[in-house]
Amino acid sequence: MDLKQQIDRNSLPRHVAIIMDGNGRWAEKKGGERIFGHRNGVESVRMVVEAAGELGVEYLTLYAFSTENWNRPRTEIDGLMALLTRAITNETNKLNKNNVRLLIIGNVTDLPKSVHKQLMQSVEALSENKGLTLVLALSYSGRWEITDAVKKMMADAASGKLDPDRVDSNVLESYLATAFMPDPELLIRTSGERRISNFLLWQLAYTELYFTPVLWPDYRKEHFYEAIIDYQRRERRFGMVSKKSGALLNH
Ligand code: IPE
Ligand code: IPE
Ligand code: MG
Repeated sequence: MDLKQQIDRNSLPRHVAIIMDGNGRWAEKKGGERIFGHRNGVESVRMVVEAAGELGVEYLTLYAFSTENWNRPRTEIDGLMALLTRAITNETNKLNKNNVRLLIIGNVTDLPKSVHKQLMQSVEALSENKGLTLVLALSYSGRWEITDAVKKMMADAASGKLDPDRVDSNVLESYLATAFMPDPELLIRTSGERRISNFLLWQLAYTELYFTPVLWPDYRKEHFYEAIIDYQRRERRFGMVSKKSGALLNH
């Protein structure tokens, strides 16, 4: 049976997050510059966006550029920014046809002005769509996001809009860049690395983690289906006891 048919449509993750990693190593294996890997990663993005939309996943968050990635060589950063603008601009029509809504999370004021402008135009053009919500994490890090939330909370406390005694995890959550969506049920990281690298630190508290050795430019729909099937075999407990052992105890 093909992989897609093995997926239980009634227990899909609502939100899948992906750390798209391994572009540099992919390029190196082929004897090319790192940017060659990034360029080939665009097709993988296309494929997972399509796959997620077809399945009926509601939110797909892609880690495209981290706060720490600003420390890479200038030429790589410039290449990535140019690629990003081009890809978004070229894909907007197709995303629109597929009813995809686009949102950006991250410290977007750090992006070059022209990139920021292009991105906002695409976000605006796709804002009424009701299908998959594609969230691009750009100049994003979990620590940046939490720090930013705390800053905003302190400003609201100082102006009397927020009572510090009322602050709990729900209030803090409402200040995060991701406040509009549920936490991811599934995190996928490609390229064999087994770390979070400052991605959704708060939101990943109870997320199922899935690591695959596949390098991002080789990532295709089947790999995405495999990750979802693996997720569906797991039992999520959220700190409670197993439903199975709970049933045993009750008898
Ligand atoms: C992921 O691939 C893309 C970005 C971080 C922008 P890398 O560029 O990190 O590739 P590797 O990890 O060096 O192979
Ligand atoms: C994480 O990958 C960031 C993105 C995929 C955008 P990195 O390649 O930057 O992370 P490390 O250096 O392996 O931790
Ligand atoms: Mg990497």
